[in-house]
Amino acid sequence: MQNFSYKNPTEILFGKGMIAELATRVPRKTPVLLLYGGGSILRNGVHEQVKAALCQHRVIEFGGIEANPLLETCLQAVAVVKKAKIQFILAVGGGSVLDAAKFIAAAALFKGRDPWAILETHGANVTAALPVGTVLTLPATGSESNGNAVISRAATQEKLHFTSALVFPVFSVLDPTTTYSLPKKFVRNGLVDAFVHTMEQYLTFPAAAPLQDRFSEAVLQTLVEVAPVTLAKPRNYDARASFMWSATLALNTQLGCGVPQDWATHMIGHELTAFYGLDHAETLAIVMPGVWKYKLEAKRAKLEQYGRRVWGVKTAAAACAKTEQFFHAIGMPTRLGDYKINAAEAAAKVAERFAARGDAFGEHGDIDAKAAAAILRDRK
Ligand code: NZQ
Ligand code: ZN
Repeated sequence: MQNFSYKNPTEILFGKGMIAELATRVPRKTPVLLLYGGGSILRNGVHEQVKAALCQHRVIEFGGIEANPLLETCLQAVAVVKKAKIQFILAVGGGSVLDAAKFIAAAALFKGRDPWAILETHGANVTAALPVGTVLTLPATGSESNGNAVISRAATQEKLHFTSALVFPVFSVLDPTTTYSLPKKFVRNGLVDAFVHTMEQYLTFPAAAPLQDRFSEAVLQTLVEVAPVTLAKPRNYDARASFMWSATLALNTQLGCGVPQDWATHMIGHELTAFYGLDHAETLAIVMPGVWKYKLEAKRAKLEQYGRRVWGVKTAAAACAKTEQFFHAIGMPTRLGDYKINAAEAAAKVAERFAARGDAFGEHGDIDAKAAAAILRDRK
């Protein structure tokens, strides 16, 4: 096992009715920014619950954060924060709203000229951030309990991430009933995103970390088990609760302690969203099987272990096949052609970006421009 430091400061408030806890968790003396997305919280009763819990607070609202949040919109929110002297940001929504809140929290106190530099340095230049709390309405990203955010810039079709210990939410409310209104497509997306987060920290090479392996396998098995139930019966509380908690554990940084990590699938996937507008999880389901095929020998031992323990199959090839079958069974396509995207063109565009930035990912640091292009050409 490799050395690691582990600190997760987020308090999780899990379960039915827990939105009421906002009354005591959100600071009362200073104005609060209530940040939300395109309006789902206005239609499913979540906004009403939040407002009721905060009836003693001074709340300023900012809606309109889009899926794959844009720098341009976030900067408008930063202006509101500065003008109203906001001291706390409450994000209510999916990963996009939570990520936007983290960026706004850091950008509001950023000393440099252009806050996009926070993304360009992947968070290295973040020295302060306003505190953020969240009410999560879409299990998927793990943003409710990690220090990551992904922001897009429309002007240049870029999508970059930053990480900072300073933007971990101080608390997150996870009430599974807030997710009952999710369309099937976003449930499917969340299942795949959580599944792939686990894989990015697990499907590498053996690292003498049997406990981390079994944590990851537990998350994978739980997702496989609850996926069909929670898709078919959105109001089955227990299935939705297990899905929600699995998605948090998949990326609250614990699975990755002391083990090699991959993340090539995510980094290639972010480029596909930037260029073609695919949902985040849609990109992952296309890319991950390609990364596995490209690195089959290097990943064989873990693929075999995964296949044996999660699916009861003997070979790496069977483990790969089972994974794609699982994605298909929950309605998730796995090919660029399914979206009428030309694979050769996508490969060339992504490779150009990787080459320009000198990027290389994967547990061996060898998924560079050439490798990314080969992976994508094979996903037609
Ligand atoms: O905007 P509203 O109206 O709220 O609608 C949203 C949005 O259209 C809707 N939605 C959310 N909760 C709902 C609901 N609709 C009905 N009922 C509810 N309860 O769902 C749509 C998608 O929401 P979004 O927040 O974009 O989805 P998700 O949570 O999958 O977040 C995706 C973003 O997170 C980033 C992705 O790149 C992408 O930008 N990621 C963030 C990570 C992190 N912070 O650690 C890691 C991930 O790998 C990922 O990259
Ligand atoms: Zn993801």
